[in-house]
Amino acid sequence: AKATMVVDRRYTVGEVDKRLYGSFVEHLGRAVYEGIYEPGHHLADERGFRKDVMELVRGLQVPFIRYPGGNFVSGYNWEDGVGPVEERPKRLDIAWRSTETNAIGTNEFMAWCKEVGAEVNMAVNLGTRGIDAARNLVEYCNHPSGSYYSDLRISHGWREPHRIKTWCLGNEMDGPWQIGRKTAEEYGRLAAEAAKAMKWVDPSIELVACGSSSQEMDTFAEWEATVLDHTYEHVDYLSLHSYYGNRSGDSANFLAKSLGMDSFISSVVSICDYVKAKKRSKKKLMLSFDEWNVWYHTSANNDKHWAVSPPILEDVYNLEDALVVGTLLITLLKHADRVKIACQAQLVNVIAPIMTTKGGEAWKQTIYYPYMHASLYGRGTVLHTLVNSPKYDCKDFTDVNYLESVAIYNEEAGEVTVFAVNRHLEESLELECDLRSFEQISLVEHITLSHENSKSVNSAEQPNEVIPKQGRNATLTDGRLTASLEKHSWHVFRFR
Ligand code: AHR
Repeated sequence: AKATMVVDRRYTVGEVDKRLYGSFVEHLGRAVYEGIYEPGHHLADERGFRKDVMELVRGLQVPFIRYPGGNFVSGYNWEDGVGPVEERPKRLDIAWRSTETNAIGTNEFMAWCKEVGAEVNMAVNLGTRGIDAARNLVEYCNHPSGSYYSDLRISHGWREPHRIKTWCLGNEMDGPWQIGRKTAEEYGRLAAEAAKAMKWVDPSIELVACGSSSQEMDTFAEWEATVLDHTYEHVDYLSLHSYYGNRSGDSANFLAKSLGMDSFISSVVSICDYVKAKKRSKKKLMLSFDEWNVWYHTSANNDKHWAVSPPILEDVYNLEDALVVGTLLITLLKHADRVKIACQAQLVNVIAPIMTTKGGEAWKQTIYYPYMHASLYGRGTVLHTLVNSPKYDCKDFTDVNYLESVAIYNEEAGEVTVFAVNRHLEESLELECDLRSFEQISLVEHITLSHENSKSVNSAEQPNEVIPKQGRNATLTDGRLTASLEKHSWHVFRFR
């Protein structure tokens, strides 16, 4: 089968905001403790941060990390995590039925993020708490000095303010599993008032209001419209969350799930623009897809009640999962005009590209690679990508292109990148891509991620089972790329 593609440098979708390659670290399972932080590990630095994990995080060039939750944040007292460590309380984390030691809190996490070169997307607790705790945290983090909370930060050893720019107003407030769940009316009112107070403390911050926990929620769409009715002029982004899985073992259907993400984004854009029209507002709201990933190999059950950092949500990802992650990244890029923030959930051990063993290795899951390629080579301007591909039908979708692809032009670096996935489970796909609008470019490299067995995984023992390789069959002649994309595979074509 053959697919053709045309891109033209003059026809652009939008700039890629670097925060599109964000990630997420929650106080959950072994994400923080035994993940980024393991004092006593032979590779831990003097603060207890694992240097091997930092190295793998740097390899992804993660620019932006959401913290500290997730469901956790809806029961979190940020004050528990600051000041002398030996005085911090141990708390029951009722979101994940674990014990939170508070050995790591806001300041330690900020220090870790600085080491890995990431900004923080800080979430405030609008579950059990409210306006006061939220505005105090902004003051603690961002106010230079001369007030109670800024001076408290200084007394804790952090003279310089953290200057956190982006803040989440709670987490998944529509979900029955959420501590302090609210109706759209209740949440909308609270989020608007918290937003006002937080911005009065620091007018330079940007705020994300909670959209639905997924497109499948009964209240989806109505929730967004009501919340925005209250918050539209006070916030900058609306959040989307979605996880994709293959519980029924239907891989053709699973590989098409990015079409669900695509329609979810389009629907939320429509709702935002509906509220804009209704309010006669001049402001265009942007989207923050601040939880997305493949998640289905494990469930959220923690049967080791009240353990410290129990091993939960440790999905082991196969090649198929990596391909789905690739198609999800391509989908986010195609919406770069409205999706300015996206956080893969999560970063270490918990549904994560990076895994660790206690006292042992840190290693890369299959999904590490498409994320790394997108983050490294997908910066610049997204181009409209015209595709003509053979198609298939599956359980949830019709007319699914076997070829999923997008092109990004980095004018400054003089580079063009094409990301592509062949969804076909049995056959290779012949690709022809017209790049003639770029005069004088040549193919720098063709990277592939593939394996004969789409279910193959990496592990601590065999970390290199599924790793990227250099493609050998791509050629660029007179501005036309031809390549053969083997069955179920991910591709990066780099031109300069
Ligand atoms: O990322 C895991 C969990 O999924 C988060 O805590 C929650 O926000 C979502 O339901």
